[in-house]
Order: sequence, then C-alpha cells, then structure tokens
Amino acid sequence: MSDQKPSSDDILSKIRGAAKPAGDKPAAAEESSAAAAPKGTSDILASIKGGAAKPKAAAPAGTADIMASIKGGAAAKPAAPAGTAGILDSIKGGGAAKPAGTASILDSIKGGGAAKPAAASVAPKAAAKAAVDPSKASGMSAADMIKAARTSVGGSVEATAAPKKVALPSKPLVQPAAAAKAADTRRSFLSDALTAVCSPLFVAWGSLITATAASSLAMARFMMPNVLVEPPTKFKIGPPTDYGASTVSTKWKAQFGVWIVNDEIDGQQMIYALSTVCTHLGCTPNWLEGEQKFKCPCHGSGFYKSGVNFEGPAPRPLERHGIRLAEDGTLEVDKSVKFQKELGQWDNAACFVPV
Ligand code: FES
Repeated sequence: MSDQKPSSDDILSKIRGAAKPAGDKPAAAEESSAAAAPKGTSDILASIKGGAAKPKAAAPAGTADIMASIKGGAAAKPAAPAGTAGILDSIKGGGAAKPAGTASILDSIKGGGAAKPAAASVAPKAAAKAAVDPSKASGMSAADMIKAARTSVGGSVEATAAPKKVALPSKPLVQPAAAAKAADTRRSFLSDALTAVCSPLFVAWGSLITATAASSLAMARFMMPNVLVEPPTKFKIGPPTDYGASTVSTKWKAQFGVWIVNDEIDGQQMIYALSTVCTHLGCTPNWLEGEQKFKCPCHGSGFYKSGVNFEGPAPRPLERHGIRLAEDGTLEVDKSVKFQKELGQWDNAACFVPV
C-alpha cells in the first residue's frame, strides 16, 4: 500500500496534524505556527503541486507555443510546465520555477535577465535575440513585446529561407487581352472614319470645296491671253545650189508647208516656193515624182510642177510665197505674202529667184 497515492484529505490532515503541537502550546507560539502553515485549500494545493510538480509531456498552447518557439527548444524540453507559471519559467529558461515579476520576464526576453537558456536551445534563442532588438524593445509594453517576438520569429524564419529567383521573360509578353483591345480600337477607328466620309455633311462640304476650286482655276485661265504658237513667217532654206534643176524639194513641207521647186518657166530657170495647201478645200497634196505632179488625196485634184491645176475640183493653181536671195547668199522664204497666177502675180520678181 506504500505505492498508493494519498488523497488530498489525507495530505491536509497530515499537514494540519504536523503543524499542531503535541502538547499545549502558548497562544503566541500557536499563532506563529498558524502563520507559517499554509492557509486555505488553494494554498495547500499550490504548495503540494509546487513540491510535487512533475514534467508534463503536453506542450502549452497559445502564448506558451509562442514562447516555446522563441526558445526554440520546446521539443527538447519535454518537461515544459503548463499554465502562466510554466510559460514564465520557460521564458526565463530555468527548469525550476523562480518567483519573478513581469519586468524580470520581459528582461529575460530581451536577454538581460539572470536566467540563462538551456544548452540545447542556444542557437534558436540566439536567433530570437538577434531578431528582437533590445534597444527598440526597451520601454515597450508586454503586448508590444509579444508582437515583436512574433514578428521576430516570422522574420527569422523568412531570413533563413533561401531567396527565390524569379525567372523573368527576356521581353514583355503581349497580353492577348491587350492585343484584342488594340484590334477593336483600330476597327472602331476605321468604322468611324468610313461613317464620317459617307455622311451627307461630308459629301456636301466636299462638293462645295471641289466646285469652288474648279471655278477658281477657270477664272485664272480666263484671265490669261490665248497665244497661238506658229512657226516664223520668214526662214532661210539654204543656198540655191542645194536645189537642182527640174527638181521638187519636199524638205520644208512638214516644217514650213512649202515646196521648193527648181523649174524652167517660159524659158527661164528659176526657184520658187509653192504652197502645200490645196485650192479646193485646203487639203495637203502629195508630190508624185513618177508622175511629175502634185496630187491631192482628198478629192483627186492634180497640179503640174509649176502649180497649175489640171484635174480634179481644184478651181485655181497653187499659190506661191515670196522668196529672195539674202545677203549671205542663202534663199529666204517669206510666207506672209502670197502670189496668185489668176491675178497675174506670178510675174512679180518677188515670187521667184532666177538661177
Ligand atoms: Fe484637194 Fe479637194 S481639197 S481636191
């Protein structure tokens, strides 16, 4: 029966019996003994528990967990006590409960207390101590200190974690949503532009501007004089030796509208200039070397080398232009004057050059 644990009533009775003297005691001595003895059930139980406290394997929850994490040795100390006393003891690092106030507990957190951490939890406590700056913690309230401790615990964990390297893309990726939004913006702009161009107001203003510009250009052209660019009426055709006897030269037909003829008229060899305008309706005849005649392609009028008409509807001979031998020995033709045979003008010396 020695292993059986005594009940509370037995313990109380034993204590009370030991405190009471066997014999009669003076009243003063009895009072002092009563003062030394525990009073009240709670005190007795507390003293019993304090003396017979045994480690409990269960770890405290809440604040105790935080404190245990500060120490870093909660698992290493399976005998961590429960309750506030146990928490304070764990903070102080002492295995046995030591009476200390809140200030001393806070000092122990800051590392300035007399309590020393256990050897097994030196490294975690050192990390916590480094995380909690004593200079900042001084003058802080208990709540602030706990908050700082929690922060320091979290910070120390984060500090020990290796920094993660984020693999950034070489160039920013185009978000599909942004690209779709840009495409919608372009389509909307084109649609709005087409609607504006096709609007009646735009068409009306465009027509007005176009009509104003056209009328302005027409007015500017009207203010400018009409100039007809014609070849000069007098031009040189070279020396008389360039034109052989009994020949018709078509060299100046296209440029000046004349034939240069070297022919014998009434027994006199001469050079004269015949007009290339048909006397019928103004067509341009052709010189036919084989037939030795001028033939009009329009109505078939025919002219001799001398210019006299002989067939077709032409009513009169071809006209001659003025010609003379210039001072430099070249022939000069003047188209501003004309000579007509039917008027007897071919006898004028101004319409031929004798050779
Ligand atoms: Fe030459 Fe009529 S125009 S024949």
